[in-house]
Amino acid sequence: TKQPLIAPSILSADFARLADEVAVVEGQQGRGADWLHVDVMDAHFVPNLTLGLPVVQSLLATTGLPVDCHLMIENPDRWAIGYAEAGSYNVTVHVEAADDPVKLAKNLRAAGAKAGLAIKPDTPLEPYLDVLKHYDTLLVMSVEPGFGGQKFIAEVLGKVRTARTMVDTGHLNLVVEIDGGINTGTIEQAAEAGVDCFVAGSAVYAADDPARAVAGLRSQAAA
Ligand code: DX5
Ligand code: ZN
Repeated sequence: TKQPLIAPSILSADFARLADEVAVVEGQQGRGADWLHVDVMDAHFVPNLTLGLPVVQSLLATTGLPVDCHLMIENPDRWAIGYAEAGSYNVTVHVEAADDPVKLAKNLRAAGAKAGLAIKPDTPLEPYLDVLKHYDTLLVMSVEPGFGGQKFIAEVLGKVRTARTMVDTGHLNLVVEIDGGINTGTIEQAAEAGVDCFVAGSAVYAADDPARAVAGLRSQAAA
């Protein structure tokens, strides 16, 4: 089986010390974070406001980690491309917000990024299985988007299992990512359902030793 990927979310980091907070999880030679998850919120698609393209550009200049942008914004058809052009590794848009998700995926890929599609906990997966042929990552939200530190919604694991089966049978070619409420108490059930990449915000940055928390989550997911 593949090594699980761990993507710390800087939403739970100290925004006044972002470069240091990123460096703490970078680790040495593959032992630290695999991706850096960056939550962009616009106070419209979700009831919270975080950061935008200028901060992402600065993060890209300060880290060698692949940057995984999760855009919780309205009109991603217009705004997502800038995050790809800036050099993000993966740019994820919400299916609930995108007007033309197929065209958007093509534009993101043409700009050199992986294309990601996110689905909220109550959004069904089946209507989007054809759309997902154009995507590289699927972000299954396991909390309502907007805030860190919420409780894991285990019901979304059915969507993870469906996606896992589609990938394993060759019908889709996706990294299956989960976001929300991932911690030492929930990561094993997510891994069992077939997640490839685990986003963790508070479980990493509220820990005394964030680097150790990343390593601990990875070994739990791999078990
Ligand atoms: C929530 C964000 C998450 C958030 C997860 O809308 O998409 O990435 O940082 O935080 P935890 O891991 O604390 O649930
Ligand atoms: Zn996120």
